[in-house]
Amino acid sequence: MKSITVNTLLSYKSEGKKFSCLTAYDATFARLISLAGVETILVGDSLGMVLQGHDSTLPVSSNDIAYHTAAVSKGNQGSLIIADMPFMSYAETNQALLNARQLMQAGAHMIKMEGGEWLAETINKLVRCGIPVCGHLGLTPQSVNTLGGYKVQGRAAQSAQQIEKDALVLQNAGAQLLVLECVPRQLAKTITENVDIPVIGIGAGPDTNAQVLVLHDMLGLNPKPARFVKDFMAENHSIPKALQAYSDEVQQGVFPGDAHCFE
Ligand code: KIV
Repeated sequence: MKSITVNTLLSYKSEGKKFSCLTAYDATFARLISLAGVETILVGDSLGMVLQGHDSTLPVSSNDIAYHTAAVSKGNQGSLIIADMPFMSYAETNQALLNARQLMQAGAHMIKMEGGEWLAETINKLVRCGIPVCGHLGLTPQSVNTLGGYKVQGRAAQSAQQIEKDALVLQNAGAQLLVLECVPRQLAKTITENVDIPVIGIGAGPDTNAQVLVLHDMLGLNPKPARFVKDFMAENHSIPKALQAYSDEVQQGVFPGDAHCFE
């Protein structure tokens, strides 16, 4: 695959071409995922749950993400690598700059941070330093304790308006990509239409520009999958075939279907 850059993703958005993203944490899966044509790989702090066995992403450190980003970078065959900034690693701008440097030097092409308006100044600084930023709105798992659980966000009008406003603020601060997690499909559609940057959805319906899933979920390894997850191993019976089916179904707009959405 030709190397994917932020410009490639922007041109996909303007052409109406859908693209995919999967989490990966090691070289072997990074290689398989990029060979399947999945355009972006997220070294997610979900590794705290699926690799380390914690019940949240809060214990994950920047060193953990840097270690896994370095491994992913070795196996990657041209996908754009996004590394998650873990819990409390970007509360202050200076701290965010140092931690983002570590992840970029480990092999990331972009970093991701959870949060709205309060991140604007930090995003602006990171982008000016040459570090592309992906925002993350809706259900932000690092805030599970303030949100009171892993719940769909933006169902009430006020919360929906706040997410819409935050999306524009992040874009105007310089973010070049946005993840929207667990929001009603109509809200995701509105935001995707309102912003110029590509929007990657997870539990956000079919109308975003791209989709992301946690690797272990789409391989059917999670005994209690969320509603928005599809087990691609069930019909494909091999990991490379399951990854290819995911890539194809996202690109063709087959996944996610109605059964995977929140209305
Ligand atoms: O950490 C992660 O895997 C994520 C995705 C669920 C979007 O942030």
